[in-house]
Amino acid sequence: MNILAALNWRYAVRKFSDQIIPEDSITTLMEATRLSASSYGLQPYKILLIKSSDIRQQLLPYSYGQDKVANNSHLVVIASHTNIGDQTVERYIDQYVATTKQPAASISGYSEHMKSSLAQMTKQQQQEWAHQQSYIALGNLLTSAALLKIDTCPMTGFDRKGFDQVLGLNQQGLTASIICALGYRDSQDLAASKAKVRFNYQEMVMEL
Ligand SMILES: Cc1cc2nc3c(=O)[nH]c(=O)nc-3n(C[C@H](O)[C@H](O)[C@H](O)COP(=O)(O)O)c2cc1C
Repeated sequence: MNILAALNWRYAVRKFSDQIIPEDSITTLMEATRLSASSYGLQPYKILLIKSSDIRQQLLPYSYGQDKVANNSHLVVIASHTNIGDQTVERYIDQYVATTKQPAASISGYSEHMKSSLAQMTKQQQQEWAHQQSYIALGNLLTSAALLKIDTCPMTGFDRKGFDQVLGLNQQGLTASIICALGYRDSQDLAASKAKVRFNYQEMVMEL
C-alpha cells in the first residue's frame, strides 16, 4: 500500500476485533517507534507494550469509559521521563560513545550546549518538551501501523495519575504521555465508514 492510501485507510478505531497482531509485526512497529527522531536525539521516553489483558483491565477505570483500552490486541503507553536535566544528556552521550566508538570529549561542546538548553527550561517546560518527543514517536507508530494495515487508536482521554499508579511509572522516573490501542477494526465499527474530515490542501499548506 502506498503512503497516501495507507493514511486514507487509517482512522481512529472505536471498536477492535479479537484478532491478535502477529509477533513479528508488533516487533516491527516497536522498532519503527524506537527509531523516531527526537530533539537532540535524547529520546526522553519509554515505550510500554502491554500484552497482559489483566493489566489492561486494571487501566480501564482510568480510561474515561473507553473500553477499547482493554479490548484490543496490544496497548502501547509512551511514557516520558520525569527527571529531565544533565542526566538526560549524559545518558545519550554514553550511548553515543558506545555506538560510534568516538570519545565523549569529541562532542563535549555539543553536550554542554544540550545541557544548557535543557537547563534554561522550567521543570514544567522540560516535562512538556519530553511529552512532545513522545508525540513524535506516536506519529511514527500510527503511520507505520497503517502501512502494515494494522489499526490504531491514539488516546489522551485517560487519567494520567491512574495510569502512572497502575503501571508503577513514577517509581521508574516516568509519567504517561500518550496511549495507543493496536489491533484490527471490528466489522461492526461504524467509525470505519465515516468521512475523513481534514482541511484541504490549500488551507493547510502554504507554498511560498
Ligand atoms: C493526541 C491525540 C489524542 C486523541 N485522543 C483520543 C481519545 O482519547 N479517544 C478517541 O476515541 N480518539 C482520540 N483521538 C483520535 C482523534 O479523535 C482522531 O484522530 C481525529 O478525530 C481524526 O480522525 P481520524 O484519526 O479517524 O482520521 C486522539 C488523537 C490524537 C492524535
